Amino acid sequence: MLTLSLSSFPSLLLLHPQSKRHRFVSFNFKPKPAAAATSVYSPRIDNLVDSVNIADDVTQLIGRTPMVYLNKVTQGCVANIAAKLESMEPCRSVKDRIGYSMISDAEERGEITPGKSVLVEPTSGNTGLEIVLTDPEKGLKGAIDKAEEIALSMPNAYMFQQFDNVANTKIHFETTGPEIWEDTMGIVDIFVAGIGTGGTVTGTGRYLKTMNKKVQVVGVEPAERSVISGENPGYLPSILDVKLLDEVVKVTNVEAVEMARKLALEEGLLVGISSGAAAVAAINLARRPENAGKLIAVIFPSFGESHHPIFLIGAIFIEGTSRR
Ligand SMILES: Cc1ncc(COP(=O)(O)O)c(C=O)c1O
Repeated sequence: MLTLSLSSFPSLLLLHPQSKRHRFVSFNFKPKPAAAATSVYSPRIDNLVDSVNIADDVTQLIGRTPMVYLNKVTQGCVANIAAKLESMEPCRSVKDRIGYSMISDAEERGEITPGKSVLVEPTSGNTGLEIVLTDPEKGLKGAIDKAEEIALSMPNAYMFQQFDNVANTKIHFETTGPEIWEDTMGIVDIFVAGIGTGGTVTGTGRYLKTMNKKVQVVGVEPAERSVISGENPGYLPSILDVKLLDEVVKVTNVEAVEMARKLALEEGLLVGISSGAAAVAAINLARRPENAGKLIAVIFPSFGESHHPIFLIGAIFIEGTSRR
């Protein structure tokens, strides 16, 4: 029997020029150990190993998310808007990218061990798995302080510190930015993204400006809690490069929820409320006369089920029922 291991193919990914989805890991691909591979592949598959489009494991499905034009919610727009659907990541969130990147980085440096380390992380969104809620009045700083307290009291705890971790911006510089650049064939004029840690907007925006310094980078903030553009200065993550931002657009919660609902009903895109907020900001920019004919790329960071499911899906259900 011809035995073939993936370790015989250190450049396996390059053998799939037509396979877009393997690109994510091409910069950091680690072949499977020969023992595992030989026990898995049959001669029938050995013969096809160059051409099958099957991921080795779920991490190879991270990234390479599709872009789609918005068509129905764009009344009055003079620019085109293309949404990048991070809602189609394996765990339904842009955070898949930094999960992979921060874990690989910490493993390579020997700071965490699979099966032993407990990862504790402050998050305002969907980086977490088991959740400890903190006082909303204390904002992100409150969540960070609480995470530090938990990490100190727990053996084998490790904090990635996504708000300060350069592996966060790095993965967006290495993947999200190039994906948008390639998928738009370099004609993107404006890049719009919400700001949590600032990793997405900084890493992606920095890449796009490296490719074309005229690309405008626009951040989106909740109007009720605007820490960059607002009257209520708050905690600024160290990885957020504020100087990179050409503009920050404020969007209210009500506008964000209403737009998330419209995206589901009119565009068929079930995305989270922050995607609604990002869409409101992109539409605002796309209506400005000076942006006529431009292409705006906007990040939709997560799927609709993970944020306020009853609120959002309930509203869609009621509307759907009343239309019948
Ligand atoms: C749900 C959600 N996920 C991810 C992000 C991106 O955040 P970050 O700035 O941490 O890259 C945002 C930003 O608005 C968000 O709302």
